[in-house]
Parts: sequence; C-alpha cells; structure tokens
Amino acid sequence: MKSKKELILQQFREQFPKAAEPLVVWAPGRVNLLGEHTDYNDGFVFPMAIDVGITMAGAFNGTDQVNIYSVNFSARDSFSLQELVPSATQKWSNYIRGVCQQFALLGFELKGLDLVVEGNVPQGAGLSSSAALEVAAAVLLDALHGWEQDRVELVKLAQRAENDFVGVDCGIMDQFASMMGQENHALFLDCRSLGYDLIPLPFERQGYAVAVVNSRVQRGLVDSEYNLRREQCEGAVELLGRELSGIKSLRDVAMEHLPLVNGLPDVLAKRARHVVTENNKVLAGIKALEAGDLVQFGELLTASHLSLRDDFEVSRKELDLLVELALGVPGVLGARMTGAGFGGCIIALVPERALREFKERVFQGYKEETGLEAEIYVFKPAAGAGPIL
Ligand code: GLA
Repeated sequence: MKSKKELILQQFREQFPKAAEPLVVWAPGRVNLLGEHTDYNDGFVFPMAIDVGITMAGAFNGTDQVNIYSVNFSARDSFSLQELVPSATQKWSNYIRGVCQQFALLGFELKGLDLVVEGNVPQGAGLSSSAALEVAAAVLLDALHGWEQDRVELVKLAQRAENDFVGVDCGIMDQFASMMGQENHALFLDCRSLGYDLIPLPFERQGYAVAVVNSRVQRGLVDSEYNLRREQCEGAVELLGRELSGIKSLRDVAMEHLPLVNGLPDVLAKRARHVVTENNKVLAGIKALEAGDLVQFGELLTASHLSLRDDFEVSRKELDLLVELALGVPGVLGARMTGAGFGGCIIALVPERALREFKERVFQGYKEETGLEAEIYVFKPAAGAGPIL
C-alpha cells in the first residue's frame, strides 16, 4: 500500500507537473477527553491528537499567487498574496487563506506556492478537521520559508486565522492539540498560561480503548449557541466580580465559590457551575490516570456529560441517547459528548474485549430510535503536526 506521502506526491505531480519537489506536512485532528467549553474561560483541557488528519504538499512557484488543489473536493482555488480576502465559493480554502493573511500581518513576506491538500478526518463530526488544516498550513509555510517560528506561536496564529478570517470564535484547544500531540499521550493544557504537559495514557495497557461514536447529526446551531455560551460565561464573570474582586475569567472561580455561583441568575449559574466543576474534573481526571484508576476516570467522563447536558445545555437528544447506549454495554467505564456539542461525537471508555459488542449494540440501538447510522471509530493517540520526511 502507498504511504500518505507517496499518495499526495502523486497528486501533486498530476496537478502541478512543472513544480519543484514539494515539502509534505501532516497535522492531525483531535478528540477531547475531558475539559469541554473551558478553553475560552482560561481553563484546563485534556485532548488527544488522533491518527486521522490533513496531509499537505507545497512548493514555491516563483509567482505571487497561491494555487491550491483539494483532493477531497476535487476543486482548485487560486488567490493573489496581494489580496488576501475570504473566498465566497471555496470555503475550504479560507483556512489556508487565513493562515497566509496572519503571517502577512506579522510582517512575513510570503512567496507564491502550489499546494495540494488531502484529509481523512470525518467531516462535520467535530474532530477538528479545520484546525488541522490551519495547523498544516502554518507548519508548511513556516518550514518552506525557513522562518522557524516557535510552535506555540504557530498555534496562536492558526487560531487567529479561524477567529479573524474564517470568523469562528473558537478557543485554542483544537489547534494546540493538533500541533502538540504525542503518540500514546493526551495533552493537559492550561489555556491561560499555555503551559502544557503530555500525560501517558494507560488505556491500552489496561485493556481499554476510547471509542468515538459519530452521531451524524448536523451541527446546525453550533455557531450561534457557541457564541451565546461565551457571552453567558462573560456575563457570569462580570456579576461574580462584584463579590470576588480581581477575577478575570471563570478559571479564577474555585469550587469553594460554588455557593456564590449558585446565587447568580439561573442560566448564568448553570453555565458558570459547568465551567468551574469541569476544570476541577480535568485536574481530578489526570490524577486518576496517573494512579491508573480508570474507573474513576470513567466516572468523571460521565459526570462531564451530565454537566454539559444539564448545566451548559450543549448536548442534544441523539448525543444523550448514544451516551446512554454506551453506558448500557457491560464493562464500559464512562461516556460523554465531546467537542462543542449540538451534534458531532461522543466518546466512551470501553474494554477492548467488549468493542465488538459495543459497536453492535450502540449502532443497533441508535438506528432503532433515530433511523441514523452512527459511525464508530477507535483512534490512536497520535503525534502532532510536522513534516513527513
Ligand atoms: C470547539 C472549539 C474549541 C472548544 C470546544 C469546546 O471545538 O473549537 O475551542 O471551545 O469547542 O470545548
């Protein structure tokens, strides 16, 4: 079988027969294990990079044009480096245009390029294919031009491309995980300091796997509801600041302040309670993993789901059903929705010996109730972005 690199090189030669030998990079998608809707509250997250992602090949073309071919969409796009504006028709290209613009805004002088992009992240599943695309573009442009920027600076640049150019107000988790992941590890990230630690995952050693179940429901409301949650969190900080002077975000609200939180207007109390307890769950989850206590880790996953469902209100009935079906399979230690919510995936901590039964029961049960066919994956915790040599 041909490797990812051979396949993309072949595509590159077909699309750009006169171009120089390209550089090939890879950036993975991610699945978040714990710490949801905490990143934009300066809190803690615990995602892992996964073994599906974006492959990108690129070479300078001696012009001031960028020409891109997307293998997945069988589509081409070209734009001038003198005019970095979003494309109304080729939306997939905006992630790359946005990264170019962010480099330009920092004063880097970009040269024209020919690019080929190919991805194998399931689309619309909330597994961060767009973050992977931005990170791949950032790594490729940085390496080709020889700028050698710090990787965390590239993560921030990729996030700004999404916020300012694509116009999605996401936090930093997805780009960070795509850049900094490591095989068999998950990433414990403090979204305030951007300090991080790679935590070894004991799942495989103990005979467990993280199953990811794609609900395949369209994530329709996600943008407007996501922005609303951000505003509600800010609103809660403003009110809590009257009692807790000096707090800048919900990260600064400790578990002992929960009685104060509970005194906020109902919706704000629920939002803030989720974030405060979720940050605490990330810390507890890492302790549990370090102690090899998967039972405890699984309980935290399920508790996180309940909090996302009842307090943060970003779940939906299909995700709740998947979690319930997953927890009904003997041996499953915990399950929760993952990512922004309103669709996308759930994760479950499943004994490897029960994976077949898990897949059958969850698929069947879900189909019977919803008519939808869930997709079930078991990803490996993978390395972050970089050149494929
Ligand atoms: C999306 C965003 C992330 C994060 C999650 C929720 O994936 O891109 O920044 O906020 O939702 O945890």
